Amino acid sequence: MSVDGYIDDASPQRLRLSNTADFDRVDSVRASCDAILVGAGTVRTDDPRLLVRSPERRARRVARGVPAEPAKVTLTSSGDLDPDAQFFTTGQAPKLVYAASPAVRELTGRLKGRAEVVDAGDPLILAVALADLRQRGIRRLMVEGGGSVHTEFLTLGLADELQLVVAPFFVGDPYAPRFVQPGVFPQSPKRQMRLAETTRIGDVVLLRYLIGTGRG
Ligand SMILES: NC(=O)c1ccc[n+]([C@@H]2O[C@H](COP(=O)([O-])OP(=O)(O)OC[C@H]3O[C@@H](n4cnc5c(N)ncnc54)[C@H](OP(=O)(O)O)[C@@H]3O)[C@@H](O)[C@H]2O)c1
Repeated sequence: MSVDGYIDDASPQRLRLSNTADFDRVDSVRASCDAILVGAGTVRTDDPRLLVRSPERRARRVARGVPAEPAKVTLTSSGDLDPDAQFFTTGQAPKLVYAASPAVRELTGRLKGRAEVVDAGDPLILAVALADLRQRGIRRLMVEGGGSVHTEFLTLGLADELQLVVAPFFVGDPYAPRFVQPGVFPQSPKRQMRLAETTRIGDVVLLRYLIGTGRG
């Protein structure tokens, strides 16, 4: 995020906040996970591929007996997902879409052959999606945004670790998306985090926090 807490600006182009070394660090974290989750908003806005780029890391995963890439996961209520988005068209790993019940039928048809659509309730219940992921053997899930998804995981106490990278940008635009939004759950508890690491990576800084009993 920028120093004032934004994860993008309000322009149609994606704001590149991190530097090359930090993108490589993200690549290594991806390689250590069983799955990567982003919200449907990020799939629509950023069109990310969510792949492990380093051939060495991919080879090490295969040597460990797991697929070269983590599974990809997204969440949607509206069902507004383009089957030609790179989320669906790149990589060999399974793609999972947790959808609110009313969107499931149409989305299953639209994403046929590209992703498995799972009914996660009406309204969609995040804990249902996470329990299903666990049943599929997903133990370490990397959540890569955007702001709505960060807000849910943090206010619902569903994250064990937060890796926050602060970039030397001041965005200052109230229309830009923030790292988190105001809590949507009025009674959400204030969660103490433990600072486990600070690392300077060129002109950005990584702050790694452990949350609750999370060991990272
Ligand atoms: N700097 C970074 O590291 C970074 C990383 C990722 C994203 N971003 C930025 O974040 C912005 C997007 O953030 P965002 O908040 O708009 O979108 P988001 O968090 O990526 O996705 C929100 C969408 O996900 C679905 N969703 C999430 N939780 C749900 C739930 N519990 N039940 C049902 N559906 C759920 C909904 O999709 P439907 O609308 O389809 O129902 C919702 O609109 C973009 O500007 C992007 O560039 C920045």
